[in-house]
Amino acid sequence: MMLSEEDMNEINGLNRERDDYVEVLVLRVLRIYRLVIKAVICAEQKSKWIIIPSSSYGLQSDIDCLKSLKGSLEDPFNYLGSWNFDNTTEGSICKFTGIDCWHPDENKVLNIRLSDMALKGGFPLGLQNCTALTGLDLSSNKLNGTIPSNISNITKFVTSFDLSSNNLSGGIPKDLANCSYLNIIKLDSNQLTGQIPAELGLLARIKTFSVANNLLSGPVPRFSNLQISADSYANNSGLCGTPLPNCQATSKKTSPGVIIGAAIAGLTITALGVGIGMILFSRRVSKKKKEDDPEGNKWAKSIKGAKGIKAS
Ligand SMILES: *[C@@H]1O[C@H](CO)[C@@H](O)[C@H](O)[C@H]1NC(C)=O
Ligand SMILES: *[C@@H]1O[C@H](CO)[C@@H](O)[C@H](O)[C@H]1NC(C)=O
Ligand SMILES: *[C@@H]1O[C@H](CO)[C@@H](O)[C@H](O)[C@H]1NC(C)=O
Ligand SMILES: *[C@@H]1O[C@H](CO)[C@@H](O)[C@H](O)[C@H]1NC(C)=O
Repeated sequence: MMLSEEDMNEINGLNRERDDYVEVLVLRVLRIYRLVIKAVICAEQKSKWIIIPSSSYGLQSDIDCLKSLKGSLEDPFNYLGSWNFDNTTEGSICKFTGIDCWHPDENKVLNIRLSDMALKGGFPLGLQNCTALTGLDLSSNKLNGTIPSNISNITKFVTSFDLSSNNLSGGIPKDLANCSYLNIIKLDSNQLTGQIPAELGLLARIKTFSVANNLLSGPVPRFSNLQISADSYANNSGLCGTPLPNCQATSKKTSPGVIIGAAIAGLTITALGVGIGMILFSRRVSKKKKEDDPEGNKWAKSIKGAKGIKAS
């Protein structure tokens, strides 16, 4: 790593105070950390492989993740009964129903597949602690509430995101577009409303996108590398745009004409107004001139004014 002149100065100044030294060290560690993350991202972009940043606390955090997940969902048929956190053997959570790990002997969750279990509750925010999760399938349950607006903080590395056939409401967050590894998005058969964020069209790896059977409206995203069939959009409140019928861009198409028409009308009215105003003004001026006593003096005027005041 190259040190800039600024960095050298920073370091040369260290002998002054110990506190400064600690602070600069912390900054430097943070900077190195950032560089490592950048390098990982660059490598990923080159290789097209996902490289999950590993961390020493990842293992405990995945246990916390599943504890939180189990705790946040009602499980009337006890499908998660096998999730026993008393066994602290490394890899024990990998035997849980619906859990795949990256490696069977390591508590690092790869996929969570809990479809069709009548699970009830809000979107489980504790998933944020499954830091290397690539697949999430909570389809055909009774999830309610909204998809979190900061979803990319929670499921950063997911390639597959399946929340279909639940009771989720609210909008599809545009932050979902920041989960840049997504191949599969299935949100069909919920109560989702509003527009589909155009940003989702930027997802470079998307292969499957389905939002049928919701209450969505407005233009659908333009996916650059993907042909989406109309079935993926079926049964909504008013979606439009390829592959569906074109959006009624009435306001957009006619607006230039309307603006020009309004401008001409406005100009005409203004011109008329100015014209009439000028005519009236000039009449008044000429009238006033006739009334004015060309030989009037201050004395006469003050008498007139005084009379006027008394009269009123
Ligand atoms: C704990 O989990 C490990 C790995 O899954 C298993 O081999 C072991 O039998 C379990 N121990 C108990 C007491 O259940
Ligand atoms: C993640 O786990 C930590 C404990 O390891 C906990 O304090 C935190 O609340 C968890 N985060 C979420 C979003 O549940
Ligand atoms: C789905 O959520 C709506 C509110 O958004 C609620 O009225 C309805 O009862 C829920 N349906 C089910 C099957 O839970
Ligand atoms: C993605 O994240 C960046 C910063 O992390 C943010 O500025 C941007 O708005 C996000 N994009 C979307 C579509 O939310």
